[in-house]
Amino acid sequence: MGATVRFLLGEAEREIALADPTRTVLDYLRTDERRTGTKEGCAEGDCGACTVLLGEARDGAMRYRAVNACIAFAATLDGKQLLSVEDLAAADGTPHPVQRAMVAQHASQCGFCTPGFVMALAAFRLAGAAPTRAAIDDALAGNLCRCTGYRPIIDAARAACADPAPDPLRANESATLARLQALAPRTSLAIVRDGRRFLAPRSIAELAALCEEFPEATRLAGGTDVGLAVTKALQDPACVIALGAVCGLDAIEESAHTITIGATATYSDAAPVIARHYPDFGELIRRIGSVQVRNAATLGGNIVNASPIGDTMPALLALDARLILRRGSAVRELPLAGFYRGYRETVLAPGEFLERVVLPKPAPGQIFRAYKLSKRFDQDISAVCAAFALTLEAGRVSGFGAGFGGLAATPARAPAIEAAVLGRRWDEATLAAAGEAFDASFTPLSDMRASGAYRRLAGRNLLRKLYLETAPSGSGRARTRILEPAP
Ligand SMILES: Cc1cc2nc3c(=O)[nH]c(=O)nc-3n(C[C@H](O)[C@H](O)[C@H](O)COP(=O)(O)OP(=O)(O)OC[C@H]3O[C@@H](n4cnc5c(N)ncnc54)[C@H](O)[C@@H]3O)c2cc1C
Ligand code: FES
Ligand code: FES
Repeated sequence: MGATVRFLLGEAEREIALADPTRTVLDYLRTDERRTGTKEGCAEGDCGACTVLLGEARDGAMRYRAVNACIAFAATLDGKQLLSVEDLAAADGTPHPVQRAMVAQHASQCGFCTPGFVMALAAFRLAGAAPTRAAIDDALAGNLCRCTGYRPIIDAARAACADPAPDPLRANESATLARLQALAPRTSLAIVRDGRRFLAPRSIAELAALCEEFPEATRLAGGTDVGLAVTKALQDPACVIALGAVCGLDAIEESAHTITIGATATYSDAAPVIARHYPDFGELIRRIGSVQVRNAATLGGNIVNASPIGDTMPALLALDARLILRRGSAVRELPLAGFYRGYRETVLAPGEFLERVVLPKPAPGQIFRAYKLSKRFDQDISAVCAAFALTLEAGRVSGFGAGFGGLAATPARAPAIEAAVLGRRWDEATLAAAGEAFDASFTPLSDMRASGAYRRLAGRNLLRKLYLETAPSGSGRARTRILEPAP
């Protein structure tokens, strides 16, 4: 077992012994490396000032993704390449194309946000997506500029992508790849300091054994909830078991009728597969946090975190998704609808963990809709979220699944609504019956995101929206369009 974390910082090899097993990447960069270009704005994954790039060897090439250093633990760097804003300019000082564009477009506004914007745009340029306004907005949704000067930054994004210069970050790609492959951890990581542990097993069997040995340990997937527990709630977990290095736990597999998503598959990896079958689910995921958050966070973490306003659960409930849970060598499968016991309580037994999530592929003729209502469109948690899987045959409802978030202590299916519509004509009378069943099913609470009255009305109106979009007499789908500004 290794006790030190080995990675590349830019092109330089590092091997560090962490005195604090939950020390963040941001703290390490600024304090030990004196790389103070990476800023701390919020320390909770919201503002993007701490954006760094993580490089990993994938399918014989380097894959770089932007993440928030403030909620990522340095121990998770094992076997990866970390790039901070100091790594962008070439050794001779030539600025990176994004830096050139930021200067030329007068987009460098304040020292707090600019490094994060530069890193987010460097990742966007590397990914090679077409720089449409919608794509640029999405790439920057996790970077907040308090002076509201986004226009020059968006201009810089366009200019950087139009610059034909090859990306300097890829200049040494094959050498970097070889060095990372040489560094790749072959054994598990076990940091033990003053009674605190950070364990990163490499196989599912080893993970299962550790979860049994340390049943109270905090399981760490993407860390976008756990990271906040440390940086904001100042929790100091005695033992963390990181899932990220477990071989094969991030697999996404399709069969004729199912999509199976491993517990450590990130949203960024799972979304394209899910969106191919359920475009609305893909869009729901696109509105979870930001690119930086989705590059780290997992569906599994969302499910186990058990927040009543977690966004993926309504969709998974409507689709009757199933969970594969493991404890030692014992594996059990249960529907997500049976997973929650109460507010932030699940049926996971001590030592048990979530291994995979299984979604059915759409049934013939099934219509799937997901709606998220939040105060801001991007980078905001839902006040209410609803998802529906509806199948109509000859004008009658032959299949109906409904999942809701923000209306009860847990994400919830609504069997009463399902019973009220099944077998009936999809018409106003059935919608009214569904609305009554909705009212009888939920008594939502008021909180900082929305009042109970708002949630109740909005949730019921989402049923109407579904009806208007899908009923033969309905108005069809109204889609929000992001307008490209005039050239
Ligand atoms: C800025 C920001 C914006 C966000 N926006 C949204 C949003 O719009 N919508 C939304 O729903 N969420 C949002 N979140 C919350 C978070 O990103 C999601 O809940 C995410 O899916 C958690 O996944 P993770 O892999 O990061 O989980 P982690 O933080 O690693 O874990 C979350 C919990 O699940 C447990 N856990 C994780 N994996 C397993 C497993 N396999 N077995 C057993 N236990 C496990 C952990 O112990 C922990 O209790 C946001 C978070 C941030 C920081
Ligand atoms: S400091 Fe705000 S996202 Fe990290
Ligand atoms: S660039 Fe920092 S507040 Fe706008």
